[in-house]
Amino acid sequence: MHIEVKGSPVPTPSTQQPAPVQFPANFTWGVAASSYQIEGGSSPDLRGESVWDTFCRKNGAVFENHHGGVACDHYNRYDADAALMASLGVKAYRLSVMWPRVMKEGVGAVNNVGLDFYDKLIDSLLAHGIEPWVTLFHWDFPLALYHRGGWLNRDSAEWFGEYATKVVDKLSDRVTNWMTINEPQVFLQLGHADGKHAPGVQFPLRETLLAAHNSLRAHGRGVQAIRAAAKKPARVGWAPVGHVSYPIDNDPANIDAARAATFAIEQTHLWNNTWFADPVCLGCYPEDGLRVFGNNVPAHPVSDMDLIHQKLDFYGVNIYSGSCVKAKANGGWEAVNPGPGNPRNTMDWHMAPQALHFGPRFLFDRYRLPIVITENGTCSTDWMDMHGRVLDPQRVDYTRRYLLALHEAIQNGTNVKGYFHWSFMDNFEWAEGYKQRFGLVHVDYATQKRTPKLSALWYKRVMETRGASLVEPTDLRLATPEHAMQ
Ligand code: GCO
Repeated sequence: MHIEVKGSPVPTPSTQQPAPVQFPANFTWGVAASSYQIEGGSSPDLRGESVWDTFCRKNGAVFENHHGGVACDHYNRYDADAALMASLGVKAYRLSVMWPRVMKEGVGAVNNVGLDFYDKLIDSLLAHGIEPWVTLFHWDFPLALYHRGGWLNRDSAEWFGEYATKVVDKLSDRVTNWMTINEPQVFLQLGHADGKHAPGVQFPLRETLLAAHNSLRAHGRGVQAIRAAAKKPARVGWAPVGHVSYPIDNDPANIDAARAATFAIEQTHLWNNTWFADPVCLGCYPEDGLRVFGNNVPAHPVSDMDLIHQKLDFYGVNIYSGSCVKAKANGGWEAVNPGPGNPRNTMDWHMAPQALHFGPRFLFDRYRLPIVITENGTCSTDWMDMHGRVLDPQRVDYTRRYLLALHEAIQNGTNVKGYFHWSFMDNFEWAEGYKQRFGLVHVDYATQKRTPKLSALWYKRVMETRGASLVEPTDLRLATPEHAMQ
């Protein structure tokens, strides 16, 4: 997710022909999705409710009152979806487990039919040669626990630890790559402060920061649970938003200004990196955040930071766009506003490939953890043409430019271990419902027919060539009608 903020970027799409490209041999190439956005399988006999089920029932909360009751029906189609991923050259898949599918009340009894679904999904992925990367929380908070105070309840960390233990106990003989929470900035700012996402409340800053603090404690408890229950050596990370400022050019003063802007907290909202990443990676809240948030910061025992600050094996991060800045003469930075006609997607996010160079670079420099791009992608107005094809040249161009920028960062010495494209297939885009299409694969929601878009076939070649094909022009015939004509 990316929230456009004032001073959004000037796109600096490079036009000169890039040098030959080759990502590291052990680089992980993948696709990503999440439970509520694709699964369906929502009947009460199959799972408990989440805050997103109730949020979608609020008239007008979601575009055309769409909801995830059926979504992509992945619950019933997971094996065919795994086969489709394999046919598209996918070697790794970032999925999330739905907490209330595993434990209907969020704590206590395990819903075995729910846990068995993930058991079968993991087996199917492995049978198709796909490495599963599992996110434990991707926003579908159990409704039963929300009614017990949700993230405001200090017990939420223990609830999450109990749930994580059940999942890891079941899957960790086959799953070795884990992420605890996805984008706390979004489910807290949009979900608990702005009311635009589930649970749709508008807490004052004090309560939002308390919920944030407990979600960070839950992250720490989740890491502990993974380490304790894993049946095989586990690589543990998380998947926050990467809120990136990038320099207008490579002048060292502008790079320093962009770095400072990337890690600054200037406003009383949670759309930042350090309020979350500094406790997780450094064991303390950032000084500027403590100053800006003042007495809204929850009092907490020192031991909370020891819980939050658990050793991680990688820094997963979701980057879609960024903000362009330049240094000010007297120190600090100023936003460089885009000119008219900047490339932007159907959610108004600007094309900002340099965010995938400087974001990983700045984050690696600060936290010294290997970086995994756990989400990157774009939405566009994809539909099937009269020949049964879904041509999405914008997604190809976006992804080409961002991957070239990511490759630059690696060449520059940033330790990037993998890239997961958001998303494998079109899916429920939260408050935007099914209006926004992020998939490499088109989904006809009336028939559930999956059709690989041009970008899926293009990405297959990118993965096969470890990025070498990024410098080739795109052959639109790639999206041959043969598969689309079935
Ligand atoms: C996020 C979520 C995804 C979104 C995607 C597009 O990053 O917001 O992880 O679930 O669907 O980012 O907004």
